[in-house]
Amino acid sequence: MITTLESTIKFNSKPVTYIPALGFSALTPFFDSFQKWGAKEGTFKPKLIAHAGIQKNFEVLDLGCGTGTLTILVKKSQPLADVIGIDIDPNVLSLAKEKTANAKVHITFDLGTAFNLPYPDNFFDRVVSSLVFHHLTRENKLRALKEVRRVLKANGEIHIADLGKPQNILMRLPSVVMRRLEETEDNVKGLLPQMLNIAGFNEIEETSKLMTIFGTVSLYKGLKIS
Ligand SMILES: C[S@@+](CC[C@H](N)C(=O)[O-])C[C@H]1O[C@@H](n2cnc3c(N)ncnc32)[C@H](O)[C@@H]1O
Repeated sequence: MITTLESTIKFNSKPVTYIPALGFSALTPFFDSFQKWGAKEGTFKPKLIAHAGIQKNFEVLDLGCGTGTLTILVKKSQPLADVIGIDIDPNVLSLAKEKTANAKVHITFDLGTAFNLPYPDNFFDRVVSSLVFHHLTRENKLRALKEVRRVLKANGEIHIADLGKPQNILMRLPSVVMRRLEETEDNVKGLLPQMLNIAGFNEIEETSKLMTIFGTVSLYKGLKIS
């Protein structure tokens, strides 16, 4: 198994390790250009938002918001929704706040970890998340999904865009590497729907998939019934 470079932050004096947006903190300022060029974010992020069906007065969380690209798109798609972005990396949150000020929209950004969310039960109507679950170990993916379920209201939905099972021979090439990383292995084996199921979600669907240079990016949906 290949190991990845991790950073560490303390929450309540306990160290928590994480993988920054591009693996190395020094590369974080280049993340947006990389995303546009390599991950086709201009295609899958609007699609994710359309699938989420965000309405006015919805409470929406962008889990692992990074530099806030998806968070800002969510807010612009429905200016009357309350939108919060959370990320574990203070450096990436500084970039998100700067971009949000330039975009002249109001978004709250919180520092925190996906598997210990600082929000009450039954609070959000939608949780969206893009390219974050492949940064988490299997154990933390499950912890994060259970936390998302806890903070969602009944009939609330999670919408995830992340690495998925390769849909053709071309997409199997990048997956050869991805399968060897602990955090990405379950993604490329197509196990996120099973994990959503274990975490208690219903009506789980892979709603879309597209080819990128990192491999297949799949969009998934899960519903919290009650
Ligand atoms: C590839 S970036 C994606 C950022 C953003 N969602 C986007 O699509 O532009 C992954 C993000 O997940 C964040 N992340 C990693 N581990 C996390 C955790 N345990 N809790 C919250 N965020 C985390 C990283 O700091 C990084 O900003």
